[in-house]
Amino acid sequence: MARINEHYAKLPASYLFPEIGRRVRAYQAEHPDAKVIRLGIGDVTEPLAPAIVAAMHAAVDEMGKRETFRGYGPEQGYDFLVDAIRKADYASRGVEIAADEIFVSDGSKCDSSNIQEIFALAARVAVTDPVYPVYVDSNVMAGRTGPSGADGRYPGLVYLVGNEANGFQPEPPAEAVDVVYLCSPNNPTGTVATRAQLERWVAWARKHDAVILFDAAYESYISDPALPRSIYEIEGAKECAIELRSFSKRAGFTGVRCAFIVVPKTVTGTDPAGKRVSLNALWARRHTTKFNGASYVVQRGAAAAYSPEGLAQTQQQIAFYMENARLLREGLTAAGFTIFGGTHAPYLWLRTANGASSWEFFDRLLNESQIVGTPGAGFGPAGEGYFRLSAFNSRANIEEAIGRIRRAFR
Ligand code: MLT
Repeated sequence: MARINEHYAKLPASYLFPEIGRRVRAYQAEHPDAKVIRLGIGDVTEPLAPAIVAAMHAAVDEMGKRETFRGYGPEQGYDFLVDAIRKADYASRGVEIAADEIFVSDGSKCDSSNIQEIFALAARVAVTDPVYPVYVDSNVMAGRTGPSGADGRYPGLVYLVGNEANGFQPEPPAEAVDVVYLCSPNNPTGTVATRAQLERWVAWARKHDAVILFDAAYESYISDPALPRSIYEIEGAKECAIELRSFSKRAGFTGVRCAFIVVPKTVTGTDPAGKRVSLNALWARRHTTKFNGASYVVQRGAAAAYSPEGLAQTQQQIAFYMENARLLREGLTAAGFTIFGGTHAPYLWLRTANGASSWEFFDRLLNESQIVGTPGAGFGPAGEGYFRLSAFNSRANIEEAIGRIRRAFR
């Protein structure tokens, strides 16, 4: 008899985005002529940049010739990509990251759910609320929590509430925890942490010997040079922070899959005897055991995002999505909505109309305006009463969506 991992039974039956997909399919089956506009899951819509396409074509051609064919690559990533990351993402901002501190992977969703494996089951983990659900669910699956309570929270996790009063950027807790997940620019609220806020987090982590898991998947959407794009721009962060980055939103790789995680050798935890252990060594052991490296073709594509042409083309795409965000923000503000985020992130976080619950608002928007968004409650109890709209879509669809919402909520 195969006994199952009973911790899975603590989770809702389906993950947030498949559940939204299920509801939208049901609606479309009943309304086959409805032109539904999807501003739910943050999925890019612009095609890959020409420089990336050319690099991937060339890499496929290499793979098709005996002389240039490649089998398994280095698990941590090819030098050409790791070097590009070190120079463009870190050295350019005054941060020195060694090649063996970077681990190329097939996505930040996997990285952010897998990273908890290197911490003790008894580790005390803090998350913000609202939060990207992967951080919570992966800890539930691992067995770090009890079953969720009536308030939708899992005992065993420490929740740090983001709300309008703190600009959806909670401060470090008074209590000590072992690990905290932070995401800036934030998914789902689209807000961004300032340098001063990150300095407080780093000071807190160092004081309490905690590790910050810093998800910077949306850093390329920051346009204000005063805002940090990497946690390592903060003094002392290399002693206490692991950073996650992705090509999904930076270069349109949601369907291509490539990301990386930075684990500085100076970030440590303790073993049961209290001895200091490098988290880099643990993650290297995990990564090389469970992963055989991202594909060569994909890594060539990712490296091309750093070439002068690739950079210019991908920055143009980001500017396009951010113009969508601006139009949404202005259009919905004019319609009377209170909007957060959407200035340095492709997500807008809005207060639902007339105090509706997040799912009521979801149903109303789908039924009356044929627009799909993401209910804030899907990101945690503190998201109740809020709603997330993604700016990833064509300009025509964004304009159409604004018009429909304004008509429905006039
Ligand atoms: C989102 O919509 O929150 C993201 O696209 C999900 C993800 O990156 O996994």
